[in-house]
Amino acid sequence: MNEVPNEEAAMTDTALSFVHRFEPGTDAGARPLLLLHGTGGDESDLIQLGRMIAPGTALLSPRGKVLEGGAPRFFRRLREGVFDEEDVRFRAAELADFVGEARAAYGIAAPIAVGFSNGANIAAATLLTHPEVLAGAVLLRAMVPLADPPAADLRGKGVLLLSGAVDPIVPEENAARLVAQLTAAGARLDHRTLPVGHGLSQADLNLARQWLAASQPLAA
Ligand code: MLT
Repeated sequence: MNEVPNEEAAMTDTALSFVHRFEPGTDAGARPLLLLHGTGGDESDLIQLGRMIAPGTALLSPRGKVLEGGAPRFFRRLREGVFDEEDVRFRAAELADFVGEARAAYGIAAPIAVGFSNGANIAAATLLTHPEVLAGAVLLRAMVPLADPPAADLRGKGVLLLSGAVDPIVPEENAARLVAQLTAAGARLDHRTLPVGHGLSQADLNLARQWLAASQPLAA
């Protein structure tokens, strides 16, 4: 067969332990982003968002390995908002290993995770269980991924958590518990609650862009 692959397929890489896309950056002083999609997304989903909130930054975007009725996710859930915590821990370790592989393969620094929904939840779990892997995180509509996380040292790491005031999936009390967990671990937390639901808004993009521009440039 002599098929010409389409552009999307050609840019998806299957060589490392997660199917992923990597887009090299043009700004050597910018932290790479680890883009983590929501349920039913894939490695292409957040590329455009990454380009918008951090122009010129290297983008690493894996596809979640867990399938729920064919929809990719980053860990198993028992039902909406109820997580298989053993799987959360296993998948966070798997993702941490992938970041190490990708850093070696592409020669990039520790990334800032940018996750939406299920992607934000695995980002939070990775911060709490493998804090050395991430330089910080932008968590879009995250909730508590582990009821009783291990004691992590997140001192020096910035986290922007953007919640929705009328999010039908993430109760206010749950986001507050995540704030408490991350703050107790020493993270520099910036938590904003926007007048929106679970979906992303222009305000999310603006706040994420401003926060990333102000946070953690690579040392010159
Ligand atoms: C989702 O739909 O992805 C949930 O809101 C979050 C999760 O299951 O991790």
